[in-house]
Amino acid sequence: MDVVIVEDPSAVAAYAADRIAGVVRRRAGAVLGVATGSSPLGIYAALAELVRAGQLDTSRVSAFALDEYVGLDPAHPESYHSVIANMVTEPLGLDPERVHVPDGIASDLDAACADYERRIRAAGGVDLQLLGIGANGHIGFNEPTSSFASRTRIKTLAPQTRADNARFFATEAEVPVHCVTQGLGTILQARQLLLVAQGEQKAEAIARMIEGPLASVCPATALQLHRDATVVIDRAAASRLELADYYAYVQEQLPSGGAQ
Ligand code: F6R
Repeated sequence: MDVVIVEDPSAVAAYAADRIAGVVRRRAGAVLGVATGSSPLGIYAALAELVRAGQLDTSRVSAFALDEYVGLDPAHPESYHSVIANMVTEPLGLDPERVHVPDGIASDLDAACADYERRIRAAGGVDLQLLGIGANGHIGFNEPTSSFASRTRIKTLAPQTRADNARFFATEAEVPVHCVTQGLGTILQARQLLLVAQGEQKAEAIARMIEGPLASVCPATALQLHRDATVVIDRAAASRLELADYYAYVQEQLPSGGAQ
């Protein structure tokens, strides 16, 4: 795992946007895995700026969202259909036909989950999956004790996740109880993983993910199994890492070809 500690949230956004832009420049038809929540917003804004300035062509890029609430109307402003449309598809100039979000209102959710897996496969798999991390160590909505082999499926949101996401709704009671999320096994099949986190409230989860034992009770430790995973965090999110100086040293000594 490559651990990159930068000064502040704007440096996290700049580093991650640069990495994603590189993927798109190398492959015009790149397939991106996109996350919702607050952590990636600066990254999307930085990418949108590149697109506006004519420095990045996203017309052939496809995107797959990680998750969606179950039972929330896709037209609801906090559905991930809406969030992805407003924060990713429009500002980045993506073709809406190439942007996929799991179906949280299908009459047969299991079939819709299987179909989502099929769509990812049909697109040739995900080139780069962007991830945030929950304070409880979730990625996507794979809550603690999710199987490392899991695929897209229905999950029950942890009470802490519902409380954390209540800021997007009028009341906590309005936060849906269930979601559809790509599984840890699905996420691990992406060719590159890029996880970003900012702020002290993520420091504990970051330390467990990077330096703790591989354990499904902290689902983000799944990144330890991936051969090309990069974690980009600001100083506050890095504040509980025991080996922070070592990660900085590794970044300073990187050979020109890159190393992990
Ligand atoms: C979002 C997602 C979640 C969030 C995580 C962090 O699609 O899958 O794992 O990345 O809950 O959320 P924020 O960034 O709002 O702190």
